[in-house]
Amino acid sequence: MLTDLGNFKRTKYCGEVSLSDVGKTLNLAGWVHRKRHHGGVIFIDLRDREGIIQIVVEEKNNPEAYEIADKLKSEYVIGVVGRVRKRPEGTENPKLKTGYVELVADKILVFNVSEPLPFPVEEETPVSEETKLKYRFIDLRRENMKNNLIFRHRVYQITRNFFTEEGFIEIETPFLTKSTPEGARDFLVPSRLHPGKFYALPQSPQLFKQILMVAGFDKYFQIVKCFRDEDLRADRQPEFTQIDFEISFVREEDVMDIAEKLIAKLFKELLGIELKTPFERISYKEAMEKYGTDKPDRRFGLELIELTDIFENTEFKVFKAVIKNGGVVKAINFKNSNLSRKEIDELTKYVQSLGAKGLAWIKVEEGKLTSPIVKFFSEEETQKLLERTQAQPGDVILFSADKRETVYKILGNLRLHIGKKYGLIDENKWDIFWVVDFPLMEWDEEEERFVALHHPFTMPKEEDIPRLKEALETDDLDRKKELVHLVRARAYDMVLNGEEIGGGSIRIHRKDVQDIVFKLLGIEEKEAEEKFGFLLEALKYGAPPHGGLAFGLDRIVAIMLGLDSIRDVIAFPKTQRGICPLTNAPDYVETKQLKELHIKVVE
Ligand code: AMO
Ligand code: AMP
Repeated sequence: MLTDLGNFKRTKYCGEVSLSDVGKTLNLAGWVHRKRHHGGVIFIDLRDREGIIQIVVEEKNNPEAYEIADKLKSEYVIGVVGRVRKRPEGTENPKLKTGYVELVADKILVFNVSEPLPFPVEEETPVSEETKLKYRFIDLRRENMKNNLIFRHRVYQITRNFFTEEGFIEIETPFLTKSTPEGARDFLVPSRLHPGKFYALPQSPQLFKQILMVAGFDKYFQIVKCFRDEDLRADRQPEFTQIDFEISFVREEDVMDIAEKLIAKLFKELLGIELKTPFERISYKEAMEKYGTDKPDRRFGLELIELTDIFENTEFKVFKAVIKNGGVVKAINFKNSNLSRKEIDELTKYVQSLGAKGLAWIKVEEGKLTSPIVKFFSEEETQKLLERTQAQPGDVILFSADKRETVYKILGNLRLHIGKKYGLIDENKWDIFWVVDFPLMEWDEEEERFVALHHPFTMPKEEDIPRLKEALETDDLDRKKELVHLVRARAYDMVLNGEEIGGGSIRIHRKDVQDIVFKLLGIEEKEAEEKFGFLLEALKYGAPPHGGLAFGLDRIVAIMLGLDSIRDVIAFPKTQRGICPLTNAPDYVETKQLKELHIKVVE
């Protein structure tokens, strides 16, 4: 084994050797991907970033190299000096980019050995997530993982070029900062120099980008890490990457136009797909009523059907009680599904796991209805129900009756569950659109206060501001809620194939409006001062009207590549439990370190 390269200098990537190199002497370097013995001849598939080339080592012409080749094992790191030749007729491999040529080895240099791998690089043997991440350096040698990261690299480059051409300026914002208002839990970093004080890692650059607008930069962008201590899922990581931007002197349309242009460019350049712009827009209300979620997957039907009015005077006690308490009845019609009782039971278990009290159902059959509940319906109710749901023999109607938000949650999730389970989703479709007209605030039942749907700096629609003022003045909580719920935000989310890939808003740049919003959110002046005082201060000194958006880069890359989890497009992600098996973070630290940070861990 060699300790350094000596006078070896690589002249080409393995994967780039082609017919035009025939007759040339090349120096290649890489990993032993596979080795085959053919008595007197050894074939080595040598792999580097760009691909694989076949190396031929012939005993009779080159006994020295043959002896070395004989001892090579999988993933040894070698250099090969050799001559390129056309593969003999009949031995070409059209599946390989370099399949028409091979390198006849003159000299083999062994740079390093490798222990037997915990899992093979060359084939997709299933390995546990934990093992994959622990040996990420091997996982990343695999063709698909490598390609994911190269694709991601191209997303960065196109994005940077796009924003630069559009006149945006890339500016970094701090990671060691104060808590930001995106609504998740913060990661905190203790300060050594200031006992008892903490930095927070930013959940987004929101406040800084607004301040950059006050500073006059006019158009800012950044590809930036954000940190949120949330419960993790396939589409959520504690640190993830945003494509963040902000513009001055704009309305919603201007921000949305830039966002669409970027996405259209990524799709065109990376996938060769022309997305039709402007993207469709649907209101938050429509999204919730039809799909039960503000990020609907519209690649299949199964829309939610409103039935509350039909059952207003019903004798069926479940529906009656719900409607009396201000709840709603909705259903989905799983058309032509002919579900069995067993299948309905499975769906019932599924909705119960989401907190549903039950799943009433009707099987529509030729000339009859099979159902545990129709016997409680009047003739008229049944008739109207069948009409409204356009029921046909073979259909199964599934009901949810509960508080409005609960029904949205249950049927929204059930719709997706059925879509996936029964293969209703058209995987070849790209469904991209905006959700607009979000409410500015929602009433949080648990905390008994209003909370901002986006963040507290989102501008309400001009025509709704009087409602906010009235809400602030009334002491009647019901009236307050009624008024506040009618106030729409100047916010917009972009949804791709049922995932929120970006969101943003026009910001509040006037102190009077900000004061009203803070008051309704129950953010006291003192608290506002403590939390976002620096932004409020900046807004006093000539803040231009401004707005922006942030995309979830990991999600965009994963969806474009057709992957289920953003972990597959992040080089070193955390597991579902927030652990990095490669480094074993988070981990305990030395008592000395804690002491310096003025921290004591309490069991
Ligand atoms: P928001 O909180 O909607 O907006 O975040 C923007 C986008 O970031 C992605 N995202 C995530 N991706 C992976 N893991 C996570 N934990 C995670 N959380 C969010 C989503 C989301 O659409 N400051 C505002 C933007 C603005 O108003 O300009 C913000 O951060 O795709
Ligand atoms: P019960 O009278 O409680 O036996 O319920 C009759 C049917 O209604 C059963 O099929 C239950 O699964 C269903 N059901 C009960 N509560 C609800 C609800 N809140 N929403 C929808 N279906 C329900």
